[in-house]
Amino acid sequence: MGIEEQGGQKTAGADKVAPATGKLGVMVVGLGAVATTFIAGVEAVRRGLAKPIGSLTQMGTIRLGKRTENKSPLIKDFVPLAGLNDLVFTGWDIFEDNVYESAAHAQVLEKEMLDQLKPYLETIKPLPAVFDQYYVKRLHGTHVKKGKNKRDLADQVIADIREFKKTVDRVVMIWCASTEIFIEPTAVHQSIAAFEKGLENDDIGIAPSQIYAYAALSEGVPFANGAPNLTVDAPAMVELSKKNAAPICGKDFKTGQTMMKTVLAPAFKARMLGVSGWFSTNILGNRDGEVLDDPESFKTKEESKLGSLDYIFQPELYPDLYKDLYHKIRINYYPPRGDQKEAWDNIDIFGWLGYPMQIKVNFLCRDSILAAPIALDLVLFMDLAKRAPSLRSIGIQEWLSFYLKSPQSAPGLYPEHDLFIQSMKLKNTLRHIMGAGLITHLGLEYYD
Ligand SMILES: NC(=O)c1ccc[n+]([C@@H]2O[C@H](COP(=O)([O-])OP(=O)(O)OC[C@H]3O[C@@H](n4cnc5c(N)ncnc54)[C@H](O)[C@@H]3O)[C@@H](O)[C@H]2O)c1
Repeated sequence: MGIEEQGGQKTAGADKVAPATGKLGVMVVGLGAVATTFIAGVEAVRRGLAKPIGSLTQMGTIRLGKRTENKSPLIKDFVPLAGLNDLVFTGWDIFEDNVYESAAHAQVLEKEMLDQLKPYLETIKPLPAVFDQYYVKRLHGTHVKKGKNKRDLADQVIADIREFKKTVDRVVMIWCASTEIFIEPTAVHQSIAAFEKGLENDDIGIAPSQIYAYAALSEGVPFANGAPNLTVDAPAMVELSKKNAAPICGKDFKTGQTMMKTVLAPAFKARMLGVSGWFSTNILGNRDGEVLDDPESFKTKEESKLGSLDYIFQPELYPDLYKDLYHKIRINYYPPRGDQKEAWDNIDIFGWLGYPMQIKVNFLCRDSILAAPIALDLVLFMDLAKRAPSLRSIGIQEWLSFYLKSPQSAPGLYPEHDLFIQSMKLKNTLRHIMGAGLITHLGLEYYD
């Protein structure tokens, strides 16, 4: 049921969304560039030092009812989201640096800003991490948990969560740690029982990220995955998520180049323009870039970045336009640039009668500045999902695809990559849980 023809109609599935009372605990795995920019940014906004630019939950509006009604409240006034003043942070890292030290090392935020936030940021000290260099070759962790097997490590993370729960009212976990090597689900990932046996047996297929995810989901804590690891893209995790009403979403924050890709590609397709080649290259010099310099971690990122065009272009439906598309992605570690990535895209397109044309995109971006508001929105929306009866037990929160490079979707269902479809889906989900009419953009009623 939708608006534009059904002004103001309530949808059948109107939820009783629980209010966001009390403190929301945010457990961040990996306190590196993205995480510290996220945490420091929230604190800067709380103190009125800066605006939360890039955050839909803080700045976005949502249209309700007919276009003639002029009703567009802020999203945060329409759905019950945790307020920024109610966020409490903790996290894990393989290094002992507190959030101030780690942010200073990441060199994303200016010293002047960081120094103003220093007394607060210094109080957030990482808990020892679950880490094994086999899964992230370029890092040597020193601040790590020891355990007799992976079950023991999972229990230690569960203990961390329980301890934190004593100090807050609700908890969400988000993975902002390094990209692990490419691991596809095996037999051990097919059911909760098989996974738990694998924890006991130290199964090599279980990556550290999955130990954190298992701990979160076992405790009913939502888990969002900001990296391209297939952490919760496994039947066991989906089963656990549904069983414990702990929403999951992933994977890989959609920030720079892929965000542009998922804007441009739908435009070419909508206009039936062909694409014969898309070459994407990047230079970046932060720790993420160093980790991705390892071929096994790069493979995980490459898989995540490659999918979008195929799904958007649907070459099986449009062979004349996209069957021969050559898509190549390169990421080069280049220390002088630090977090200030530069991405180039060369796009070979063709139009009427097959005449070729070219488009060049040169995006000089700041990786963590783009990722931080996404981390914030995911945390707030995952907490909302946990409080919404029609979302909390469905497992994968596909409506959050908007934020993700390689969105997880139900088995057998292709993921939606088009940024504007994702945006519509997100907003309609919010309307749905609040019992407002969905918006279809049909609009014939204005011409009756
Ligand atoms: N910045 C972006 O635009 C962007 C976009 C999409 C995805 N990502 C992903 O987000 C993640 C974080 O990016 P970043 O730039 O902050 O990287 P980063 O290297 O600055 O931070 C990652 C942190 O995770 C820690 N870590 C690694 N393994 C860990 C473990 N097992 N447990 C706890 N901590 C661990 C590292 O010590 C480091 O401090 C990466 O996986 C990256 O690919 C970033």
